[in-house]
Amino acid sequence: MDLDAAETAALIAALELQIAWGADEALDEAPLDRTRPRPAAPAPQSVPARPGTPPAMVPAAPRAPVPAAAFTSATLRAGELAAGADSLEALREALAALDHPLRETAGNLVLSDGVADSGLVLVGEAPGADEDRQGKPFVGVSGRLLDRMLASIGVERARNAYLTNILPWRPPGNRTPTDAEMNVFTPFVLRHLALVRPRHLVLLGGTAAKALLRRNEGITRLRGRWHSLEVPGLGAVPTLATLHPAYLLRQPAAKREAWTDLRLLRRALDGAPPPGPPEA
Ligand code: URA
Repeated sequence: MDLDAAETAALIAALELQIAWGADEALDEAPLDRTRPRPAAPAPQSVPARPGTPPAMVPAAPRAPVPAAAFTSATLRAGELAAGADSLEALREALAALDHPLRETAGNLVLSDGVADSGLVLVGEAPGADEDRQGKPFVGVSGRLLDRMLASIGVERARNAYLTNILPWRPPGNRTPTDAEMNVFTPFVLRHLALVRPRHLVLLGGTAAKALLRRNEGITRLRGRWHSLEVPGLGAVPTLATLHPAYLLRQPAAKREAWTDLRLLRRALDGAPPPGPPEA
């Protein structure tokens, strides 16, 4: 088998990831793909796609009701500011100009890292302490795990990916963003997406999935499938929800699901037909 340097590097990274995840021993002569459904497993929800058939996309579901209290004048003001940003610089200025309590407690605005026109955007939750210090998303321990996960499928933030978060400022004590905070910053995220025009979008964790997909289910139900996110000014973007790397650090057993999702992403990046409407 002839492999070029990039393919070799991706294979080595995939091997290193497996070792880092604890698979440091070969138990059998032949590899066993544990990501495939086993005979005793309950029937999968969707029919496996025939060759050349687009993977089924999750049907549009009713939007999760947003608590009325979460709509404030800050939400309206944020929507106006976001809509007026016609470049990434303008978006950064608009965010910096937004008078919001999180700005008072955070050190730095954390907007993005990576290659804006790479076609692949990953959205996390909010900056942590390391990100707040450096002004860049995913530079702490979960960011390092994310980098290793992406490397295992030949993706690298410096080359072919772009990272951002739902919140651009660190919530005090790394608490989970509130509904009101998500509502204020989601218009900025949507505008951000319209400006960088991803062909594939990955939502890392429950906060990003809830804020953008606006679905009632938790991340464990939303992950592992392609959704369609309607981005104003851009159109429908194929969107994969997956587990947050910080969750994987706490729950190493869930790395199996994350690996399944990474492979789904790789297949789509390799040109598997974009997710279409569910088959009749
Ligand atoms: N977790 C996130 O969701 N985003 C970051 O930037 C870092 C950690």
